Amino acid sequence: MPYEPPEDFLNAVRELSGRVPTPFYAYDLRRIEDRVAEYARAFRGGRVFYALKANPRLRLLERLHAAGLGAETVSLGEVLRAYTAGFMPAEVVWNGPVKPPAALEEAGRSGVPTLVADSEADLERIARHLPGAAVLLRLNPDLPVDTHPHLATGRGDSQFGVLPSDWPGVFARGRELGLAMRGLHVHLGSNLNNPADFAARLAVLERLRERAGPLGVLDLGGGFGLELDPRDLAPAMFALARAYGAELWVEPGRALVAEAGVLVARVWAEKRTQRRYLLLDAGMTTFPRPLLYGARHPVRALYDAEERGVFDLAGPACESGDVLARAVELPVPCAGDAVAFLQAGAYGGAMAMNYLDHPRPGEYAWDGVRWEVWRRPEALPRLWDDEPDRPEPL
Ligand SMILES: Cc1ncc(COP(=O)(O)O)c(C=O)c1O
Repeated sequence: MPYEPPEDFLNAVRELSGRVPTPFYAYDLRRIEDRVAEYARAFRGGRVFYALKANPRLRLLERLHAAGLGAETVSLGEVLRAYTAGFMPAEVVWNGPVKPPAALEEAGRSGVPTLVADSEADLERIARHLPGAAVLLRLNPDLPVDTHPHLATGRGDSQFGVLPSDWPGVFARGRELGLAMRGLHVHLGSNLNNPADFAARLAVLERLRERAGPLGVLDLGGGFGLELDPRDLAPAMFALARAYGAELWVEPGRALVAEAGVLVARVWAEKRTQRRYLLLDAGMTTFPRPLLYGARHPVRALYDAEERGVFDLAGPACESGDVLARAVELPVPCAGDAVAFLQAGAYGGAMAMNYLDHPRPGEYAWDGVRWEVWRRPEALPRLWDDEPDRPEPL
């Protein structure tokens, strides 16, 4: 059964919508705490690194750190954000295919996390700028992962990791370079709801084991879809880690925060072309997932009306792709009524952008009693703050 936000949270969101500008993101902290506890229990004995990219708000990170999680990052910015939230370098993993020299040098000054090398070139650059660093080598398992093509990182034709045939040689090269080669990393992709993908990965790793030899760490990444129960997946992951003699690490993002969040937008017009539209003050710049991944998010009305209709929900951009949901049945709204898009706590606020000079929205968290600001709504003049207002010679 898909998760339904509790009535008291939706009531608090409705009340908040009268006090802060729309659009905004709102999070139910209690749901985040429950999900963190579920994952911590399922993976007790291993280590859970929260993938910052899902939702990087500092106040959230502080709570996850206090709950004992590590941080998974993919840029210097995310590494420094994790440190700002209180994570120590030993609690941070730095992934991603490109780590430029200047970023590695800055990490050398700020604190060196565990690095996940994505290629031989990445290994060599890490060895040059962070000699002796602790490194995992990313494997590309060459599997036809069942998710949106933009989210399937474990396919053989994706740009990520080192293919199984090359992996042992590249790992040995890391040792020659003097790096502390600690283990193997595999992230299949995001939003995986088919347990068969997880089983297929275990089979690839089982085959690789003889050639890879014992390892200190087996990091199986994130990707846990909302329909999966970590208790069903963890035992086989632990068994494989034991066979490698390794500690098990995982990197969930979406699974911990998606269900806790809603995006609230106001309806400013109803309009008919060949379809029946509601026009909202949030669209692709506030919530890019529907456009980027064809994501379908359930919508709830935060108002009442007797009459109902079926609507497409479109945003304020001048692009026909700026539609957040299609064919949604809702009570017929008045101008100014608010709707909430559910399961928006992951890759929602994190992806909001300034295209068309739309300021990024406010983000607020509810603990069951009171609201806390996680991010203030961006002030308009900040959008042109970095632009010279007179000729600036270089
Ligand atoms: C390397 C890595 N780890 C973890 C994650 C988190 O994925 P998810 O939010 O689907 O759990 C991602 C996201 O794509 C990733 O690229």
